[in-house]
Amino acid sequence: MALLKIARMGHPVLTHLAEPVADPTDPAIRRLVQDMLETMLDADGVGLAAPQVHVPLRLFVFHLPAERAEAAVPPTALINPRFTPIGEDIETGWEGCLSIPGLRARVPRHARLCYEGTDQEGQPVTGEAEGLLARIIQHEYDHLDGVMYPSRITDFATFGFTDELARTPRA
Ligand code: NI
Repeated sequence: MALLKIARMGHPVLTHLAEPVADPTDPAIRRLVQDMLETMLDADGVGLAAPQVHVPLRLFVFHLPAERAEAAVPPTALINPRFTPIGEDIETGWEGCLSIPGLRARVPRHARLCYEGTDQEGQPVTGEAEGLLARIIQHEYDHLDGVMYPSRITDFATFGFTDELARTPRA
């Protein structure tokens, strides 16, 4: 296990289209997933995509700690993920990113979705998500396409430094 260096906005690896993982059971992928989980937890993140650790492959890890949600989600890897929105509802909520430290913004996302992919054992993973988990999955999926949340912001008055925004609470 090792902590990985997280790329910050401006590094080109964050703007490229990531490649599919050819063999999810490759020991190198298993090691990468373990290191990404360790790195995400160490950085107090709720999601981390492989391009953020300088690996241009289509996989990400996520979790929902109990203090952030009614239903905790254990640390999970999703390899070659896909998602499909359920319904038309859009929710706007706060997002930050380990590659954009210190900043937050409100970002609109699909409220509900179903997702699928493969775990590091090569087994299919499917699930439904709403609320914060649906937001995390869309945010991390965007990283695989070289997209970061600032390009999803519709109200730039909400984009700012976390500590500055906290001085003026807003909905
Ligand atoms: Ni991010």
